[in-house]
Amino acid sequence: MKNRTLLLLFIFISINAFSQKFEGLAETPPMGWNSWNTFATDINEELVKDIADKFVELGLKDAGYEYIVLDDGWMSMERDENGDLVPDPVKFPSGMKALADYVHSKGLKFGLYNDAGTKTCAGYPGSRGYEYQDAKKYAEWGVDFLKYDWCNTGKQNAEASYITMRDALYKAGRPVVLSICEWGDNEPWTWAEDIGHMWRVTGDIINCWDCEVGHGTWSSWGIWPIINMRGNIRKAAGPGHWNDYDMMEVGNGLTDAEDRTHFAMWSMLTSPLIMGNDLRAASKETVKTLSNKEVIAVNQDKLGIQALRFSNEGDFEIWVKPLADGEWAMAFVNMAEEPKNLDFDWNKHQIGDDLNNRRLDVKNNTFQIRDLYNHTEIGNTGNNLKATIGSHDVLMVRLKN
Ligand code: GAL
Repeated sequence: MKNRTLLLLFIFISINAFSQKFEGLAETPPMGWNSWNTFATDINEELVKDIADKFVELGLKDAGYEYIVLDDGWMSMERDENGDLVPDPVKFPSGMKALADYVHSKGLKFGLYNDAGTKTCAGYPGSRGYEYQDAKKYAEWGVDFLKYDWCNTGKQNAEASYITMRDALYKAGRPVVLSICEWGDNEPWTWAEDIGHMWRVTGDIINCWDCEVGHGTWSSWGIWPIINMRGNIRKAAGPGHWNDYDMMEVGNGLTDAEDRTHFAMWSMLTSPLIMGNDLRAASKETVKTLSNKEVIAVNQDKLGIQALRFSNEGDFEIWVKPLADGEWAMAFVNMAEEPKNLDFDWNKHQIGDDLNNRRLDVKNNTFQIRDLYNHTEIGNTGNNLKATIGSHDVLMVRLKN
């Protein structure tokens, strides 16, 4: 009897020992670059090396960007005779281990993409039935991040499928950030906290301010449709588990003002900051936006509280985000087609975050106001905040003690 109890206890402990995600990863939203938005499946090892070099050269590594992730299109169409995934030999002649080594040699981390179904969205081999084998391969290659998609999954249960991959990665033993990508269809914000480190909340992003582009059975979405698509999911975000508003389109054809707003909003929303542009061709303005350390600090704030919409009356969308040490970030976005004047009277607004029980108390405290794009002090909360904000541009501020 005693032996049987011990045996059961042993089995229970063994099962649970591998049934968890890697903790301590993604304590702040992951930052990096992904190939899909610009290159789709047209990727290769030179591109990855160039991007890694650009991370260093352009100061992006210094600003906090870390992961370089190859999206769909890195594999051969068939597994090998052992059932292993094979990198496309033309695109990646040196293999994935060598490429991961190169990325690591720059002090960066390396990520790959696969899919929970039988095939990826672009038709390459999916991981269904090969989860443990694939996870072992990723560990051998030195993979640090896995984006795991949801095409060709038939009647699979999403939660169970992502748990299988989580456990497979854990068993393989190399810490990997698991990026869940099922487009919000199964509401991962209600079940994925202990499974992945981030989960997409919508279908694919596209480089427009406010549009939907249909592709038959699915649509791509501009910046504001993505921000507005889900109701109140902010409570699901926090250290180690983030709502992912998709790879960014900064530098991909929006105006500079729209890029600033896009970047400000992704930072406010504690979304992972995953660049999606061609860094080899990035303009000065694009690099300036993407590497703005004061904006990034809002995204990376250690409290990890996702912003809430304070108001969207008139021409301004106003978002607020509690930060560590009682400070706050705010974004005033001009949604109009022409410049608008902001005149914000602190005493007439009760700013607070009920979910986290925080109030912005401007009666008993005076906060210094720091403009995070111009890097200047612009007064304090004892006076109205006045500014002219260009069309689709943002005034992003930090209220400092
Ligand atoms: C989609 C995913 C995109 C990209 C693409 C690759 O499902 O949302 O971000 O990964 O698949 O085929």
